[in-house]
Amino acid sequence: MKINENFLKLQSSYLFSTIAKKVAAYQDAHPEANIIRLGIGDVTRPLPTAVIDAMHKAVDEMAKAESFHGYPPEYGQDFLLEKIRKYDFAAYGVELDADEIFVSDGAKSDTGNIGDIFDVDNVVAVCDPIYPVYVDTNIMAGRSGALTEGGRWSKFVYLPCTAENQFLPELPREHADLIYLCFPNNPTGMAIDFDGLKQWVDYANREGSIILYDAAYEAYITQEGLPHSIYQIEGAKTCAIEFRSYSKTAGFTGVRCAYTVVPKALRVNGVSLNHLWARRQATKFNGVSYVTQRAAEAIYSEEGRRQVRRLISYYQKNARVIAEGLQAAGFKTWGGINSPYIWLKAPDGLTSWDFFDQLLEKAQVVGTPGSGFGPAGEGFFRLTAFCDAARTTEAIERITNVF
Ligand code: MLT
Repeated sequence: MKINENFLKLQSSYLFSTIAKKVAAYQDAHPEANIIRLGIGDVTRPLPTAVIDAMHKAVDEMAKAESFHGYPPEYGQDFLLEKIRKYDFAAYGVELDADEIFVSDGAKSDTGNIGDIFDVDNVVAVCDPIYPVYVDTNIMAGRSGALTEGGRWSKFVYLPCTAENQFLPELPREHADLIYLCFPNNPTGMAIDFDGLKQWVDYANREGSIILYDAAYEAYITQEGLPHSIYQIEGAKTCAIEFRSYSKTAGFTGVRCAYTVVPKALRVNGVSLNHLWARRQATKFNGVSYVTQRAAEAIYSEEGRRQVRRLISYYQKNARVIAEGLQAAGFKTWGGINSPYIWLKAPDGLTSWDFFDQLLEKAQVVGTPGSGFGPAGEGFFRLTAFCDAARTTEAIERITNVF
């Protein structure tokens, strides 16, 4: 009997679990501490009323034999797929067929599971810093090689995102098969423009690579002239899979609903990736509940869209409070304009974890150490805009009083 030994290469706990444990230990030791959490990107506002109403109605349908729903369709209910096609893509000039969209329980699961359809020998390119799920799931799958002294994995191609390149990765000099891109970016909060994204699409088509494009924060794009979907770039349908999520868009972190687009034009050695993903999902996933899909559908109604915009503006205002408050106090920050994340340089040359500890001790504020997202994140720190507005303002006051 053998286990998958790749799991032994992983750090003992997932980044956000490590932070939760540290914060719980601090709270235990200091029961009186009034901790403000700007760490994990978890929403705090209630669901839009349009969503709540749709869920109540769907629950009532489930209570009657004539409108009861058993297993949902494996890839999503038509009523939701149609709304996605119309509002998330056609509105931006992108035509998708319904069977190119796969509704799921989360972009975390989908970006983690997508590796199932690719060979273990593919070379993986990752930004540094990066959302840890892309790295950890490729370690589990056996694509990482060994951990090197600088904290990098020997088989990955690293795409450094630094202050010098405005946290926008440059094309790799070597070949990469699978390229993870996330825009607007988690953790740096930076967005990519059309020209920047086109370079990646051209590279991928030239090299025969697949871009795994995580657009979970698309709803936070506020500036004009930025792509909302990679398929707005010519040629992307032959080289990109896109992941979307309702978590940060409509407050669904606890409800769980997302979708992944695998275009039918996407083929590797003549094999359709759409077909492989459909096969994988039908085997390992039983679809998203009817109630949840009705909830997701509701965000596309006129009222739903208005409420979602209001929800996002609430968090965007928090992002401005964080970025402007820190900048006024002399911090160097990035992001927070097209994203709920603010990326900052830790003050006084502190390491990311030292700053985390000091922030918790001195200000009772929780953030996420940049080095948790990769070695190039060392010396940086991430704050999220998802807290209550008054608590966000208080957190920034506390931080700027101490540093
Ligand atoms: C984060 O804090 O980076 C997010 O919560 C990640 C996620 O959505 O899983």
